[in-house]
Amino acid sequence: MPLVPVPVLVLLQMLVGVSGALPQCDPRVRGMCKPTVEEKPKCADLVLSYCEDMAYSQTMFPNILGQKTRKDAESSVEYLLVSVVDSLLGGRCNPDVRMLACSVLTPRCERNSVLRPCQSACEAVHKKCRRAFEEIQMAWPYFLDCDRFFVGDEEGCYDPLEGLREQEDEAVAATEVPPPEGPAASLQFTYHSNSEMISALKTAEDRCADIARTYSIGRSMEGRELLAIEFSNNPGEHEPLEPEVKYVGNMHGDEVVGRQLLIYLAQYLCSEYQSGNERIQTLVNTTRIHILPSMNPDGYELAVSGANGDSYGDEEVPRYGSWNVGRNNAQNIDLNRNFPDLTSIVYSRRRQRSFHTDHIPIPDNYWFGKVAPETYAVMKWIRSVPFVLSANFHSGDLVVSYPYDLSKHPLEQNMFSPTPDDKVFKLLAGIYANTHKTMSSDEARCGSSRANSQKGIVNGAQWYSVAGGMQDFNYLHTNCFEVTVELGCDKFPPEEDLFGAWHDNQEALIAFMEAAHRGIKGIVKDEEGNVIKGARISVRGIRHDVTSAENGDYWRLLPPGIHIITASAPGYARAIKKVRLPPRMQTAGRLDFVLREAPPGSDEHKGENSFLSAAAYERFDPYNQYARYTMTSELNQSREERSEKPWWWNYFVSVGGPAPTWLLKHY
Ligand SMILES: *[C@@H]1O[C@H](CO)[C@@H](O)[C@H](O)[C@H]1NC(C)=O
Ligand SMILES: *[C@@H]1O[C@H](CO)[C@@H](O)[C@H](O)[C@H]1NC(C)=O
Ligand SMILES: [Zn+2]
Repeated sequence: MPLVPVPVLVLLQMLVGVSGALPQCDPRVRGMCKPTVEEKPKCADLVLSYCEDMAYSQTMFPNILGQKTRKDAESSVEYLLVSVVDSLLGGRCNPDVRMLACSVLTPRCERNSVLRPCQSACEAVHKKCRRAFEEIQMAWPYFLDCDRFFVGDEEGCYDPLEGLREQEDEAVAATEVPPPEGPAASLQFTYHSNSEMISALKTAEDRCADIARTYSIGRSMEGRELLAIEFSNNPGEHEPLEPEVKYVGNMHGDEVVGRQLLIYLAQYLCSEYQSGNERIQTLVNTTRIHILPSMNPDGYELAVSGANGDSYGDEEVPRYGSWNVGRNNAQNIDLNRNFPDLTSIVYSRRRQRSFHTDHIPIPDNYWFGKVAPETYAVMKWIRSVPFVLSANFHSGDLVVSYPYDLSKHPLEQNMFSPTPDDKVFKLLAGIYANTHKTMSSDEARCGSSRANSQKGIVNGAQWYSVAGGMQDFNYLHTNCFEVTVELGCDKFPPEEDLFGAWHDNQEALIAFMEAAHRGIKGIVKDEEGNVIKGARISVRGIRHDVTSAENGDYWRLLPPGIHIITASAPGYARAIKKVRLPPRMQTAGRLDFVLREAPPGSDEHKGENSFLSAAAYERFDPYNQYARYTMTSELNQSREERSEKPWWWNYFVSVGGPAPTWLLKHY
């Protein structure tokens, strides 16, 4: 094995130069002064307990970091990290990171000289473990810098993970399937903190890289990431004719069951797809599924402190003592009242002849009110993806509510206020309620919806009237049909109830997504075969059109029966088709349209109105009100982010000594 890499000697000489500038005299050798550099350090037994499983037994001080004695090394922050890193990373990358660190703190010593660990081994560990560090928001430790403290093979080096290799060789098969636990075991029915939630989603993305992708839709008021995960056989892309579905949880920060169910759902989709569940594979192969487990992570943080705070520690005090703590966002805005109230606009115009209930523009005055960053992010998201179907998860009752949420009479609080798509909404809400284990049975229900609901579903306004809700906005502003699922009376139930909640909802969560394939879908083209974006698909008798997406593709959720469908676009003659949808259709009926150009001067050319409304529809925060309002707060956020330390920080400051700011990502 090649010996004594040059850089170590240079380092040792530098250290000596600093610590003993004057040459020392040996009293036993009269008249002779010996420069220290000749007092060559010797190999010593490796006795640091967290490094004792290294494949060698001799080390040397000063070590590669220049720590002069075993004691120095033992009391260093670097060694402290070695001792806790396995548990900080939750057992991931164990013992790789620790052994890598030991090779720097207690380097191998042979024939009284230090050997350096190999760069290639360091790089392999870095690649494998970088993600685990990111997930706990810890920077890659400076002393594991592969370029600085490790050397290439040609300089002579040793493999710090030697000894581990043999064990791994025996278990090669196991490394093929990342964490060894089986698919079923990957669901842990516990609460996930915000960072645990993000880590769970990223783990699902890692495990199911072919079908999953996480992405951020924005940040909360306090700067927390609004992280969504997407499942599709082609993640990151809209595929023509593939419907897009979304699930949103935890809009009210204290309503936490939906948030947990959506985390489990992401894990479930991943593991079931991989284990070959045909139903899940078909769903993922034919649908693009987006899951946002928490729309209000700031509120959740507050709700957790409310639920676990001292004042609620007493068993006698019911948990709902913390009712509503954390419901709103960090600006104390109720997010389910913060969307543009388009329902009032529709009500005020309902007697006009050409009145429609779709693609209503956001009125300019909306932007002069307070718009929460969470609302803003979700609106942009809803506008940018051609969603077809959505559910929004709450708690406090056990029922599915469907639009409208706002009463059509301002003074009537419990007035049935249906949309033109009432049949479709009843069908969709019913699919969830009926496949839920208990929701549609009368005994199981709870809360104030009981008086007005039927078999677990209720019209939102008939239950209680709400302006600025998210489901009305989805329906009136986009092609998306959204319902609100109330998962149970207890907003923050004990952890033991989470498995039961999953059990009750699992089938409903899957069946509802499958409902995106009800009705009809198709592509609108012109006679030359060019797709037409923004074409209107109208259904006779329903004053609510859907529009075609980028690829000319459209989806129209419809109940079974006979429907007359019209496709139209400015400059084209309208085309009409009749379709019969039998009950229990498993996939959407395909109905394509080819539109002929309209002769000049015909009615279809008088499309200025639709051009005008298209321009109005495109207006989103036209005066930059929102941007102006949050610009300053973003500055505040980055300052907060820097001062807000991750949970593991206390490990390091409690022992005194210099604070290892090099472990902070945002320092
Ligand atoms: C889903 O797609 C994958 C990849 O194309 C394919 O291997 C799998 O058989 C498909 N599964 C089903 C049930 O269609
Ligand atoms: C940002 O911080 C400054 C000073 O603390 C404060 O005056 C300002 O209102 C903050 N901005 C926002 C939007 O919170
Ligand atoms: Zn709610």
